[in-house]
Amino acid sequence: MTDKKQPLLPITLERTLSAISSYTPTQPLTVIIASYPKSGTTWMQNVIYELLALRSFRIKGDKITLDHISDYCPFVENDKAWVYDGEGPPTLQPNHLTAHSGIDATIFNTHLYLTSMPPSPTVKYIYMTRSPRDVCNSFYHHLSHQSVDDGGYEGSRSEFVKDWNEGKIAFGAWGDHLKSWLDEEGNCRDERCLRVDYSYMKKDIEGAVRMTARHIGVGEVTDEELGDIIPRLSVTYMKANIDKFEPRSVKWVDKGDGFSFVRKGNEGDGKKEFSEEDETVFKEGLEKFPPPRGCEDLL
Ligand code: PPS
Repeated sequence: MTDKKQPLLPITLERTLSAISSYTPTQPLTVIIASYPKSGTTWMQNVIYELLALRSFRIKGDKITLDHISDYCPFVENDKAWVYDGEGPPTLQPNHLTAHSGIDATIFNTHLYLTSMPPSPTVKYIYMTRSPRDVCNSFYHHLSHQSVDDGGYEGSRSEFVKDWNEGKIAFGAWGDHLKSWLDEEGNCRDERCLRVDYSYMKKDIEGAVRMTARHIGVGEVTDEELGDIIPRLSVTYMKANIDKFEPRSVKWVDKGDGFSFVRKGNEGDGKKEFSEEDETVFKEGLEKFPPPRGCEDLL
């Protein structure tokens, strides 16, 4: 567990954090996908959306078409996801409420620590993990294309690797984040939470979808249902439909270099792209902010 204060993006205000910590679910099912950034959050958002759309289809016979994933799965620490009207707690923006009523469930994604989450005993959590070299590499590509006003990064790649390893980049040190959500064995601290690893999703997406479905109460998914869902979970599909998956919580900068938020979806690129100096800085960072012992396989 960590009691450190997390560095956050400017899109999160003190009142946003209060809104989250006092949030009371309005639907029987609320699912929160938590992660250190770039660990496969959007991929898991798509899994959860597909499973809840499937659940709706089973119950109501209505096929839902995805317009934008953020309608269903707002970034909970984006202040603009909330409407502050009067003295009571804020409510979600109408587009989120409409999407949630279509699937009879609420979904959020977050990069906050477990200690910032609402106290409700009924919320189901998924905690995504990914190799930290790939996370660091992906985060550099992401933040160097995010508007500086919204917390984007202007420095060089090697400066980013240094800042990231010192825990100075938004959401803090990777090791601290994992320690917030996971115990020393690498298991979720909270029984409402299921840990899913990016690598496992790459190896066995069907197994990962089935495991996630059981955790959120969708139950068993048939081969036919899986056959329908799986193609829409591929990196190729999500990249081709980027207008449904690129976050709207921040502004993007087009540098004309072909960057796409759904980028490569590879494993091991971080190691390949690190210079010798990056690797030294990375190892020093791990000593300063180690992950739980049970997560050493991610290194
Ligand atoms: S964020 O900004 O924190 O929400 O980013 P996040 O969604 O956690 O992570 C983005 C990385 O996940 C890759 N991605 C995928 N990989 C495999 N399959 C699918 N379907 C998929 N969708 C997104 C995405 O490309 C980012 O990784 P990199 O290494 O940058 O390609």
